Amino acid sequence: MDQPPPDRSKRPWKFSTFVYSSSILFLLLSILLLGFTSTDLYKTQSLRFTFTANRIYSYLQFHAGKPNSISETLNSASSSSHCVLWMAPFLSSGGYSSEAWSYILSLHHHLRNHPRFRITIEHHGDLESPEFWDGLATETKELAIEMHSTQCRPNETIVVCHSEPGAWYPPLFETLPCPPTGYEDFLSVIGRTMFETDRVNPEHVNRCNRMDHVWVPTEFHVSSFVQSGIDSSKVVKIVQPVDVAFFDPEKYEPLDLIAIADLVLGSGVKNSFGFVFLSVFKWEQRKGWDVLLKAYLREFSGKDNVALFLLTNSYHSESDFGNKIVDFVEELDEEEPEDDYPLVYVIDKHIAQVDLPRLYKAADAFVLPTRGEGWGRPIVEAMAMSLPVIATNWSGPTEYLTEENGYPLGVEEMSEVKEGPFEGHLWAEPSVDKLRVLMRRVVSEPEEARVKGKRGRDDMVKSFAPEVVAKVVADQIERIFDEKVRR
Ligand SMILES: *[C@@H]1O[C@H](CO)[C@@H](O)[C@H](O)[C@H]1NC(C)=O
Ligand SMILES: *[C@@H]1O[C@H](CO)[C@@H](O)[C@H](O)[C@H]1NC(C)=O
Repeated sequence: MDQPPPDRSKRPWKFSTFVYSSSILFLLLSILLLGFTSTDLYKTQSLRFTFTANRIYSYLQFHAGKPNSISETLNSASSSSHCVLWMAPFLSSGGYSSEAWSYILSLHHHLRNHPRFRITIEHHGDLESPEFWDGLATETKELAIEMHSTQCRPNETIVVCHSEPGAWYPPLFETLPCPPTGYEDFLSVIGRTMFETDRVNPEHVNRCNRMDHVWVPTEFHVSSFVQSGIDSSKVVKIVQPVDVAFFDPEKYEPLDLIAIADLVLGSGVKNSFGFVFLSVFKWEQRKGWDVLLKAYLREFSGKDNVALFLLTNSYHSESDFGNKIVDFVEELDEEEPEDDYPLVYVIDKHIAQVDLPRLYKAADAFVLPTRGEGWGRPIVEAMAMSLPVIATNWSGPTEYLTEENGYPLGVEEMSEVKEGPFEGHLWAEPSVDKLRVLMRRVVSEPEEARVKGKRGRDDMVKSFAPEVVAKVVADQIERIFDEKVRR
């Protein structure tokens, strides 16, 4: 969601790819959770090959119309034979991964009380990252292993392909395909995806139309997908949950920002600020960091006692964001204010997921003048933390950001995407002048900002809490099972 498709050479999918990818998952799981030593590596490998071979064998046997002994034994112990195979980049960082985890975890809790179907998961769509897996909570890892080992009969399984459509069967790059053996073998196949521009390219349109259903996160996507040529009867809006129990401002003390940030502009290092703006984004043009810096530097100066903290990470391999910002400011060629630039800090260290709420807690407002978002996860996290947010009134954020719960930032015009996989598409050009007005207003009208921030959390709890969204997803899946069984 938050990134264009991985830039990888096109390689035709081979059977060995399936074995390989699926094996890596099990290897990672075994080593990292069960703590196998390196001398156990050989054992682990034979174990994973046995394991993977079994799963593939079960799919292949099914193809051949033979009964499947593995699945049969496991199924007989379960209350329901109905099964959902959820395939996503579970072992990578990134937007699709965090979104998939949030669905899986909330569905898991929901199904405890309403065991209407079982869930099994499979990694697909991106490269595995041991660092990411390492950072997950132990109980999450245990749950992943448990879910991964659940066996399902393909003819009783709904598959969710939660990834960019290039990873769907047949994949355009090397990954375990989704659905694993093509579209015909499963009860139903759902594609979950999203884009950040005004349209879906023709290749992706075809891939979406091969699915039985296409789940997208917002009304914005429903209309851009349908306008691009995707069968409207297939497109369903399923919003994204935000963990409002984890992102709860009552539970945290602020993080010490100065200790983790580097000063890039301005001087007179302080240990307290009049007002702290926070922005969180990957370093790419889409995120509108140029718009943010222009607006901030034109509107404020040293005497305003404000600070802007940018938590960013690299899009490819570039870093050194401090110098990039200084270069950008030099190119702007604007006069330095007499009383110095307003403070700009960069945080480019990895902030562990568990520390994110404390990061938001340390800010007075969140700002992201993005050019386009699939959903905008940091925006909803900030809202759940009761921060007033300023974000572009286009694409993902239009699903949840209103004048009542935040500051929707007006768009100047649509502009052409200049590079990358979406070149030639359009996205939004947020207004620098309007951003200046909103940033000034959130500083000078603290009571209004507080009320909007609180309303933001209330709206997140009401409409996007995990249990709320899990019910929507479960009902949708149940409806598909009902349709299929009635036939
Ligand atoms: C799926 O296939 C198995 C064995 O091939 C069969 O016993 C079962 O009834 C089938 N389920 C459905 C829903 O068709
Ligand atoms: C946001 O966009 C909607 C429609 O796209 C429009 O009706 C609304 O006035 C906009 N709000 C602002 C603050 O620009």
